Amino acid sequence: MNETEILHRLVYYSRNEVEGGADALDAVIDQILAVSQRNNTEADVTGALLFNTGCFGQALEGPRRAVEATFERIQRDTRHSDVTLLAFETTTTRAFPNWSMGYVGAKPADADRFGGIAQTSGFDPSRMTADRLLQTLHGLAMEEEG
Ligand SMILES: Cc1cc2nc3c(=O)[nH]c(=O)nc-3n(C[C@H](O)[C@H](O)[C@H](O)COP(=O)(O)O)c2cc1C
Repeated sequence: MNETEILHRLVYYSRNEVEGGADALDAVIDQILAVSQRNNTEADVTGALLFNTGCFGQALEGPRRAVEATFERIQRDTRHSDVTLLAFETTTTRAFPNWSMGYVGAKPADADRFGGIAQTSGFDPSRMTADRLLQTLHGLAMEEEG
């Protein structure tokens, strides 16, 4: 297998820069997911996205070159900032094999209604490590899939 095709997983978090209320943010997340699902399917990339307490957390997995190209576009996106790479490493199995890009956890508008999702998702960016973020994403993904 070519080195650029070996399965890699990348984990990062970033700070939201979308202004407006929860509904505006929900709309942006829907847009991001629609584009991501189209691009990632084509590129053989899978993963999961989470939003909480003003931050995004995301895992991307797929052939090295595809993950790098996707992350380069994501880093240039002005809808978030302070993109912080937590891990980029080879892996033998995908954590999100069925998801071109799955959104896990509550949408911001729902979270507002229920008084915040910090408690439900356990995503606290200030204490994040790659393993912890991946575990959080994976745990929520398993709940979603039942
Ligand atoms: C938090 C966040 C996560 C994103 N995740 C992806 C993704 O998984 N795949 C993807 O193709 N684009 C993703 N995007 C969107 C890209 O930044 C970019 O807008 C999109 O790929 C289109 O790129 P282009 O305008 O250069 O064609 C994400 C954006 C944000 C803010």
